Amino acid sequence: MPLRTTRLSPLFGLFFALAACSSEPTPPRDASNDLTDATASPDVKPASDVSDVVDVPIRPLPPIEGVPALPDMNPDPRIVEVRLTSGPAVAHWRTGVDTDVLAYNGVIPGPMIHARVGDRVIVHFTNELEDDTTVHWHGLRITDVMDGSPAIQEPVRPGGEFTYDFVVPDAATFWYHSHVGTAEQIERGLYGALVVHEADPPAVDRERIFVLDDVKLAADGQIAPALSAGPDIGRGRYGNVLLTNGQTTPVEGSAARNSVERWRLVSAANARSLRVRIDGATWQVVGTDGGLLGQPYSTDELVIAPGQRYDLEVRMDAPSSSGAQLITTVLTALSDGGLVDRDYTLATVSLDGEVAPRPAWVAPSVTLPDADPAMPQQLNWVLGGRLADAGVEFTINGIAGTGHGSHTGMAAPIERVPQNRPVRITLRSEVSPEHPFHLHGQFFQIVAPAARAEAEPGLKDVVLVRGIEPVTVLTYFENPGQWMVHCHISEHAERGMMSEVVVLPPAP
Ligand code: C2O
Ligand code: CU
Repeated sequence: MPLRTTRLSPLFGLFFALAACSSEPTPPRDASNDLTDATASPDVKPASDVSDVVDVPIRPLPPIEGVPALPDMNPDPRIVEVRLTSGPAVAHWRTGVDTDVLAYNGVIPGPMIHARVGDRVIVHFTNELEDDTTVHWHGLRITDVMDGSPAIQEPVRPGGEFTYDFVVPDAATFWYHSHVGTAEQIERGLYGALVVHEADPPAVDRERIFVLDDVKLAADGQIAPALSAGPDIGRGRYGNVLLTNGQTTPVEGSAARNSVERWRLVSAANARSLRVRIDGATWQVVGTDGGLLGQPYSTDELVIAPGQRYDLEVRMDAPSSSGAQLITTVLTALSDGGLVDRDYTLATVSLDGEVAPRPAWVAPSVTLPDADPAMPQQLNWVLGGRLADAGVEFTINGIAGTGHGSHTGMAAPIERVPQNRPVRITLRSEVSPEHPFHLHGQFFQIVAPAARAEAEPGLKDVVLVRGIEPVTVLTYFENPGQWMVHCHISEHAERGMMSEVVVLPPAP
């Protein structure tokens, strides 16, 4: 990345230096640390109005291995109705230590919710935290009042309830997470996967999901207190323990040789971009935040920024000479400010049996919006920062938003745009090494620089703004409403790097 020093602000230099020189050594992983008793299926009681139909079989959505799904209480095949509760819980990540965490239904990650595109999803949510919260359905193009934005939704108070009720318009891998006090609540475990299946999904032998996170544990095994200065702020909070589906040891599975799997990867990390490889199998990227790609692509290493998702097709085609042993490994380099670059195994799949090779993945035809419409509106958003009385403050175009914590405190919207108008947004950073920038309720695609547009195709709702290189995305703001836009490094968002866009429907 060419660093043009003339454009470096003093703060950028400060943050970059903080990020680069402060790596704590990542402790060796403790193979006995295992979230065993947190992986049981949550005990969900049927709602009183559906209790007489509890024997109705759950409709046949393709099963996904890795995270237990919430039972669907509703017999209507087009309605998924579930119960979700946020509350304190305990994780067992270090031998002999009960780590106090926050969790949905007592498990990290929260139970998976899955549905089919076009389904109505009803979530009876109860807040058993001691703090306010909301649930945000990250990536779903639903109505803004169901989005969990604390700028719209009165936060759910301790002991309070809220019913989220929406129709899922797009098939893709999504996730849900707290949107109040997110730097703490997500770090402590309030996140889970939400999968929307295609009406006619490509045939595979198995689906797996891997929800990835890094959590920062103090020496006593408790989640480290958030710092208010230094690298935890400058680059966001990097963890020192890597979690795959909530466990510190590699997820283990088996597969028949020649079988074809669909893997869904979700990053719930606060700040760290994860670099993922798969060794011992042939794989390609078949889907992004917004769903399946018309043209899958191959890459040696996938960078997954906080909040992003990728769907992979993985062919278990290791040569038979390798025997029935470990063939597939997901390795992640925890690249700590560039100083530490080690491989960590996230999952292993051993070969068990053999099936006849399947034909190649048949890509469904997905129509992306035209990448070069006439006369798109151009917006320029500069991600900045400054020292204020209360410490470091982050900004978009010089304005620090507040609002994750208080639904009244949001700064005025950065933009009002008519629905369906093509808009190019050029994002440029003046502070910190990276910003995974997120638009609520919309998808976009990268259109510049050309090399990135080519290397990172597909619809996204998070784009990684790296260094001072500008990146331009094209969106259509198809979904009317009041939408948050923010850095997905919560330490940045909560210190001001957030705003809103109001998308105006045509006048009646
Ligand atoms: Cu995952 Cu406001 O976002
Ligand atoms: Cu940021």
